[in-house]
Amino acid sequence: MQTRQTGRTTALAVALLAMVAAMPAAAQSLDPESAFRGRRLAETNCAPCHAVAQIDESDHPDAPPFRHMANRRTLETLPADMLGDLFLRHAVMPQFEPDMRQVNDIVTYMRTIQE
Ligand code: HEC
Repeated sequence: MQTRQTGRTTALAVALLAMVAAMPAAAQSLDPESAFRGRRLAETNCAPCHAVAQIDESDHPDAPPFRHMANRRTLETLPADMLGDLFLRHAVMPQFEPDMRQVNDIVTYMRTIQE
């Protein structure tokens, strides 16, 4: 009895470890609350043009889907770019003047959906 229980616990621990190991290294360190806030911000401010989820299409034909952003540019400097002139260089200006926390939240969310 004792042995069976221990065996089951061990099997569960192994399964959990395998799940964590399968996650991309970057995703493990992402703050889920920040990603959640970022998703809300993206849905409100960016989704009119960009695809902001995993299987949607961009409404604006030239706006890159957020899940492909890392293929197009580095995400490392994206928060700083958003606080800088990124939105001024935007094809169409979104009505959005984010603060530091908001740009970090958006990029944290973006990282969770990169393909
Ligand atoms: C009114 C439409 C529109 C809205 C709203 C919009 N975008 Fe864009 N965005 C575009 C288009 C079109 C492009 C591609 C052409 C360009 O780069 O200007 C683009 C490009 C980008 C790029 C790549 C350009 C670069 O320099 O790296 C990023 C990053 C980006 N958008 C982020 C955002 C974020 C974050 C939001 C929401 C806060 C947002 N966009 C809202 C239309 C929009």
